[in-house]
Amino acid sequence: MTKPLEGIRIIDFTHVQAGPACTQLLAWFGADVIKVERPGSGDVTRNQLRDIPDADALYFTMLNSNKKSLTLDTKKPEGKEVLEKLIRESDVLVENFGPGALDRMGFSWERLNELNPKMIVASVKGFSDGHHYDDLKVYENVAQCAGGAASTTGFWDGPPTISAAALGDSNTGMHLAIGILTALLGRDKTGKGQKVAVSMQDSVLNLCRVKLRDQQRLERVGYLEEYPQYPHGEFSDVVPRGGNAGGGGQPGWVLKCKGWETDPNAYIYFTIQGHAWEPICKALGKPEWIDDPAYKTAEARQPHIFDIFKTIEGWLADKTKFEAVDILRKFDIPCAPVLTMKELANDPSLRASGTIVEVPHKKRGSYLTVGSPIKFSDLKPEVTASPLLGEHTEEVLASLGYSKQDIFNLREVKAV
Ligand code: COA
Repeated sequence: MTKPLEGIRIIDFTHVQAGPACTQLLAWFGADVIKVERPGSGDVTRNQLRDIPDADALYFTMLNSNKKSLTLDTKKPEGKEVLEKLIRESDVLVENFGPGALDRMGFSWERLNELNPKMIVASVKGFSDGHHYDDLKVYENVAQCAGGAASTTGFWDGPPTISAAALGDSNTGMHLAIGILTALLGRDKTGKGQKVAVSMQDSVLNLCRVKLRDQQRLERVGYLEEYPQYPHGEFSDVVPRGGNAGGGGQPGWVLKCKGWETDPNAYIYFTIQGHAWEPICKALGKPEWIDDPAYKTAEARQPHIFDIFKTIEGWLADKTKFEAVDILRKFDIPCAPVLTMKELANDPSLRASGTIVEVPHKKRGSYLTVGSPIKFSDLKPEVTASPLLGEHTEEVLASLGYSKQDIFNLREVKAV
């Protein structure tokens, strides 16, 4: 089967997580992704948090599957010449260097556009161009703080909190992938490439849009009824941290199940969907709540919502998180067990769907990684191992017309 992005050649000038997550996604869907790395060292994540001496770290292998690796010193004149050839023959260049690094290398947008007017140049930066912080280097947690996630995550009596989900890194990479695909479709119509830029701050904020919604509601009415602070606590003029409260119109909370005293993950998330009140009462064995005026409407329940959650915890006390969900699902109640990474890694459904895959690697043996979370009817993305440093240098150079002697000469001057 032909993959949708087959024939699209991508220069992957990315490192760490935000950029590599984007190019990995495009590689899964068939793009020919050539990762350009500094000779001798390569992407810094090859060495970070290693669990096996002398083998690429999982940090690298889990973000660079399905790619080729070309080592190239793009600061040396010989390396720049190779890169220019590659640029002339590629569709997309993706980079996430610190601000100004590509310009300093001699590859400004103007120069790239001159070398290949059809090429799409896609960049991740911490802040958008022209922003008063656009000179800053940025990592994941910095972006979560700058994008509004940290100030709204955690509990009201604790500090701003970072999410474990890579809202700044992988999320920005996903935004960039959408931008690249859009620009490729645009190029089909205009014949021209363009610059696609995504900032980590903007991408985090895009996912925090409901908190921007809440800021405006708070300014208008002075309270937020779905937050635990309502109606007994105080609101200031900024969106507070709401703990584990649901972010929509449905109250929800993380509730203790059997074994919570010793197992830190013996919990479920329980949502009280307005129209599901009757089934909830039936599931809990509390039919008297169905028509009780103190419980009947969402508005009536809100002042004592935590007492309701306590009652539900009483019901959960003799049920494991899995047993509880198995009962609640029959009543159509939106809920899930709080799953650990160990449980997810061994989940047969995730293995069967290809969301978690085991990949053989030349040096590591096999390792677990995520597969495509996007499922298609006509495409089953196969995940292949990340490349060793420089594994495809000769292959790529040969495809650009370099002879064995040329490659030898490039090696002599340490340009590849
Ligand atoms: N050959 C020669 N030089 C190379 C090279 C190659 N193949 N690849 C990279 N380099 C050079 C660059 O030219 C640059 O040199 P310069 O600073 O002298 O101009 C340098 O290596 C890379 O710099 P930088 O990207 O700033 O790396 P860093 O380790 O100092 O910072 C980040 C890392 C992630 C903080 C920074 O890249 C950044 O802010 N990126 C944008 C935001 C981002 O994506 N962050 C999330 C990462 S998950």
